[in-house]
Amino acid sequence: MRIEGARAVVTGANRGLGKALVEAFLERGAACVYAAGRNRDALKEAFGDQKRVIPVALDVTSDRSAVAASRICRDATVLVNNAGALTHSKLMEADALDNARLEMETNYWGVLHMCRAFAPVLAGNGGGAIVNILSMGALANMPFVGSYCASKAATWSLTQGIRAELADKGTLVMGVIAGPIQTDMAREHEREGRYPGSMIANATLDGIEARRTTLYPDPRSAQVGADFARDHFAVEASFAKFL
Ligand SMILES: NC(=O)c1ccc[n+]([C@@H]2O[C@H](COP(=O)([O-])OP(=O)(O)OC[C@H]3O[C@@H](n4cnc5c(N)ncnc54)[C@H](OP(=O)(O)O)[C@@H]3O)[C@@H](O)[C@H]2O)c1
Repeated sequence: MRIEGARAVVTGANRGLGKALVEAFLERGAACVYAAGRNRDALKEAFGDQKRVIPVALDVTSDRSAVAASRICRDATVLVNNAGALTHSKLMEADALDNARLEMETNYWGVLHMCRAFAPVLAGNGGGAIVNILSMGALANMPFVGSYCASKAATWSLTQGIRAELADKGTLVMGVIAGPIQTDMAREHEREGRYPGSMIANATLDGIEARRTTLYPDPRSAQVGADFARDHFAVEASFAKFL
């Protein structure tokens, strides 16, 4: 499918990778971008008077909010589930349960709410695409952010299930296994170097046009993806060192 002329919904659009995705859609000729987020002022500040950007109020943790957004974005052809939360928690820490729940609510339930609300919209508009922004932590657990990785692993499985369920609607369902990105989220973890949001965003749009189902959008994730395909236990062992 072409990005030119597409009508895209991007969740968590006000900053970070979401903002870079909106900008990439605009640069590459999307007809409009529904910039969805829970902070209207931040959306306004991010996109000002940009005519092809339509701000949409959305809290992905609420099924009702997702359904309300789908009623606004009736002509959407692409949904990018980008909104995410990272609490920097280990699974055995004292506050782990609340943090793990927040990550699951956002990273797993949020994506499920949005996929369920938007699948009929996309099907009605010719199939279109759902893009779920995942992480290398979906492949194997990095214990210093253990509960985040568990939420992304769950969402990788969800991505596979939805891909199978929507195959007969012609909806592309793509998982993006991203490496470290230069955003607020990964600021505390500078170990490996981080990639610009624009790079991940453009690779994601290339992946949509090429109808890829799984995408490793940067050199680090591509290396980990190749290692994982060869020996997933070795990847787990190498990530386990990040305590
Ligand atoms: N940064 C990395 O190194 C990295 C690596 C791999 C994958 N990822 C993934 O990339 C995606 C984008 O992350 P980022 O790095 O751009 O993080 P970020 O800068 O922290 O931005 C997160 C975005 O998600 C939004 N969000 C959080 N909870 C929400 C909710 N309940 N409803 C609606 N929006 C919500 C935030 O909105 P507010 O401004 O209102 O908080 C913000 O716009 C995430 O899925 C993340 O897991 C990131």
